[in-house]
Order: sequence, then structure tokens, then C-alpha cells
Amino acid sequence: MPRHFLTGTELTRDELLTLVDRAIELKADPLGSAALAGKSIGLIFQKPSTRTRLSFEAGVFELGGNPIILRPDEMQLSRGEPVRDTAYVLSRHVAAFGIRTHADALVEELAEHASVPVFNMLTAEHHPCQALADLMTLKETFGRLDGLVLTYVGDGNNVARSLALLGTRAGIEVRVAAPAGYQLEDGTGAQLFDDPTAAVAGANAVYTDVWVSMGDEETAAQRRAALASYRVDDALLDHAAPDAIALHDLPAHPGDEITAEVLYGARQRIWDQAENRRHAQKALLELLLR
Ligand code: CP
Repeated sequence: MPRHFLTGTELTRDELLTLVDRAIELKADPLGSAALAGKSIGLIFQKPSTRTRLSFEAGVFELGGNPIILRPDEMQLSRGEPVRDTAYVLSRHVAAFGIRTHADALVEELAEHASVPVFNMLTAEHHPCQALADLMTLKETFGRLDGLVLTYVGDGNNVARSLALLGTRAGIEVRVAAPAGYQLEDGTGAQLFDDPTAAVAGANAVYTDVWVSMGDEETAAQRRAALASYRVDDALLDHAAPDAIALHDLPAHPGDEITAEVLYGARQRIWDQAENRRHAQKALLELLLR
């Protein structure tokens, strides 16, 4: 059975912690692994991407492999070819493949029929590759994960869910501050708050994400109104630990969920976080293809 990475909870705690440490090693020695020599990796993008595409394409190359980008208009899947048949054919040509799409059910169906590892590059419910880079950024900043407090402020979306699932697995206390109607469901391991100031108290990291995600454009005004008091600014960060860092998975919308002062300021690790996508995903590919 191939190893898949659909929600991130497929990894044990030990595997997750080892992956984070391996990602830090790979950052120090980017060409130190040829784990994908002679192998191709399929990368299906049914939604736009800057970081995920760049980091996977460059990362596969650094591991000695061949990234194959597949856009919907280039695939028979968009003309009705069955998901099962698509999974069968991909499995005959590539060593693993990832997909960025809307429905989690599509990724699950591909994984059900694939004979090679399938990884989730973002779905409506999950963004586990982002969470790997987030954990790596915390580990390289603080030298540990266990016992850290990370507060996510804003829309309880796929990024928040993956942070909750993987962060708590790594020993982090994850708090999510969101208004009614935008909060994460129970059961992710996160502590749920209404009040962002209370949620941020003493936190080591304060994290936010866009208020209007891809697909939410029709409700943009309603979302901005509901989330207006959940902006990450310097005043909110002042309630966190003195050495707290600000994180954002990007793209950012300064003036909405984060201020420009925080996005480009001394307390952010956001640009390291964006770079760390590549290193963390290289460690993931090593693990899936071991
Ligand atoms: N954080 C993230 O997934 O960025 P992209 O949408 O640009 O890939």
C-alpha cells in the first residue's frame, strides 16, 4: 500500500517530528539528497498557486527528480475521464503525485485508486503541506515544538484546521480565535476562543490567513465585516509573549487580516515560512517514497 498524505494525520507524532528535523537539515544542505533521482512527480493544480507550485517544482528538482505540472485544461479529467482511470494512469508514470483542488473527496478517490503516494496540496478542508512548513518555522525559531503556544486569529478555514491537527500532534497548544460562524469545529485538538486578545495572551506565535479565501468571493463583504476585529496588528501582538513571532501562509491582504507593519516588521517570520514550504515538502517526499 502506498503512503498517502491527505490530512497530515497519516503521520505518527514521531514521523512528524522527524520530518520537521529533516526539513531543517535539508535547508542547510539543499542539494544533499538525491531521493528522487530518476523519478517524476505529478503536480496537479486545479486552483491557482504561487508558493505551492514554486516550492514543489523547485524542491523536486533539488531532490534530483522531474516535476510534471498538470493544469485542468491540459487533462482529460476536466473532460470527464473518470478519477479512477486518472489515478491508474498517473500511477504508471510518476513515483507520486499531488493535487490542489476544491473537494477533499476527489483527493480521497484518487488515493483510493492510486498505487503510488498521493499528497494534498490544498483542498477545501485541509492544507497539510502548509502546516509542515509552519511547524518547521516554529522549530527553527524556538528550537522546540513541545509546549509552545500558537494562536490562529481569523477565519477557521483549511489552514487553521491543518495547524490544529498537526500542531497538537507535535505537542503545541493550538488556540483558534474566530467569530461565530467562522470558528473551527470541535475535535481538531484546538482550544476555541471568541476573543482574540484572550487567545493571544502569552502565545509564542500568532498566525493569520486571508479573510476571503479562493471560492469565498461572493461573501467577501460579509466576511470582512464579521472578521474586522480579528486583524493581527502590533497592538494584538503586544499581548503575546515578548519574543512572539507573527506567521501568515500568504498571500496576505494588508489592511484586512494583517497590517503592513506586522507583515513587513521585525516580529514576522512570514518570508522564512514561505521558503520553508520547499524544505518541508522535500522531507515529506523523502518520507512518502522511502
Ligand atoms: N500558502 C499557499 O498555499 O500559497 P499558494 O496559494 O500561493 O500556493
